[in-house]
Amino acid sequence: MPAIVLIGAQWGDEGKGKATDLLGSRVDAVVKFNGGNNAGHTIVIEGEKYALHLLPSGILTPGCAPIIGNGVVIDLGVLFEEIDGLNARGVDTSELVVSANAHVIPSYNRTLDKVTERFLGNSKIGTTGRGIGPTYADKMSRIGIRVQDLFDEDVLRAKVSGALNLKNQVLVKIYNRKAVEVESVVAELSAYAERLRPMVTDTSLLLDEMLSAGKTVVLEAGQATLLDVDHGTYPFVTSSNATAGGACTGSGIPPTRITRVVAVVKAYTTRVGQGPFPTELLDEAGDRLREAGAEFGTTTGRPRRCGWFDAPVARYATRVNGVTDFVLTKLDVLTGLAEVPVCVAYDVDGVRHDELPMTQAEFARATPIYETLPGWSEDISGARTLDDLPRNARDYVLALEKMIKAPISVIGVGPGRDETIAVRDLI
Ligand code: GDP
Ligand code: IMO
Ligand code: MG
Repeated sequence: MPAIVLIGAQWGDEGKGKATDLLGSRVDAVVKFNGGNNAGHTIVIEGEKYALHLLPSGILTPGCAPIIGNGVVIDLGVLFEEIDGLNARGVDTSELVVSANAHVIPSYNRTLDKVTERFLGNSKIGTTGRGIGPTYADKMSRIGIRVQDLFDEDVLRAKVSGALNLKNQVLVKIYNRKAVEVESVVAELSAYAERLRPMVTDTSLLLDEMLSAGKTVVLEAGQATLLDVDHGTYPFVTSSNATAGGACTGSGIPPTRITRVVAVVKAYTTRVGQGPFPTELLDEAGDRLREAGAEFGTTTGRPRRCGWFDAPVARYATRVNGVTDFVLTKLDVLTGLAEVPVCVAYDVDGVRHDELPMTQAEFARATPIYETLPGWSEDISGARTLDDLPRNARDYVLALEKMIKAPISVIGVGPGRDETIAVRDLI
């Protein structure tokens, strides 16, 4: 009964979508367990590019059941837009299942996300503006609207009214916006109820049955370890648990079911939005990575901040997630560099730190201590085994593996499904 958790080891966009897709036909279900349409996964299959935000990456694999878990926040408009978009391209989405306990993102939370960012000015988080933070805040404040609330209009009206009692105070008195009418939100959400109803089920029960029947389930994270609300660079994080622990709370399967934790890590580092990033390159070296790696956000189109590989960050991901295997992506992007610096530790106020410093203030002041590895110039996109790699590329992988303290089992040498070196099986 393999239950494989797949997470991001850095600040997101490591290539989780491609990694999930790679597991492919051996997987019976892929569960998205956190986040919402703040995520953006680009998957390239036979030259065709797919950009997914809310749907689990397994949706592109025939025979794989895509499941939206209870830990996800759902923008219903985006859900159906994405389904319609895929259907128009011939992708079958009829197996999609949605948890009755997942929360929905009402339009007032998208408004609140944007006005809060404006209000914060220089202290803004740089959110995707999708209403993610306010919707998770409502969940914790116990004024959230859940998928199951849509199926009884009286219940829905009562919940919306309860939420707006509070939200309108904030919108009107703090942000100087117009109050939102209860009936307009009831109408907005009810409009989706009928189409949503057949997809909704008790996903925790369904997963328990699948695992007991020996099926293979992948639990796929949105965002990544350093964006996790508990373990990331708070407050510059998303509002959910993107680490392996979140896979259990966000899907309703227990930790004792998890058999493997796969972390996806880029051969360098990127970040979107504000917050500390010790290895960030603000010069031409950063521009080169951005161009060679096409580092522009799938969701907001923002240029991603780019920097060298940060070994303490990846090692931290190994520790907090219990990583059993790494998928190292975008090795091909480094081709052509004479030398590749790798951050092996930090200097904080003259003191060496081999691990992430305890406080955010120290991390913000951390400067990288680099080790420089020799580069390679040969095209590696055709490599399919470790031996196909030029020696310096192979040595780079082996050096990283030693630093991050878990085996690198898969290496990405291009965006395509087949542009991959499988060192060992993940299932
Ligand atoms: P995710 O959010 O973790 O799923 O990652 P994104 O899809 O946002 O960003 C990763 C990008 O890198 C996508 O455009 C992928 O097509 C691309 N990609 C994934 N693996 C590789 C690789 O090994 N090499 C190259 N050149 N691109 C890759
Ligand atoms: P995937 O799944 C990269 C970042 C935003 C912002 C912070 C909070 O594609 O790796 P939010 O809208 O979630 O409240 O924004 O988190 N962020 C991501 N950065 N990849 C993502 O997802 C992200 N999802 C959120 O840029 O800094
Ligand atoms: Mg992404």
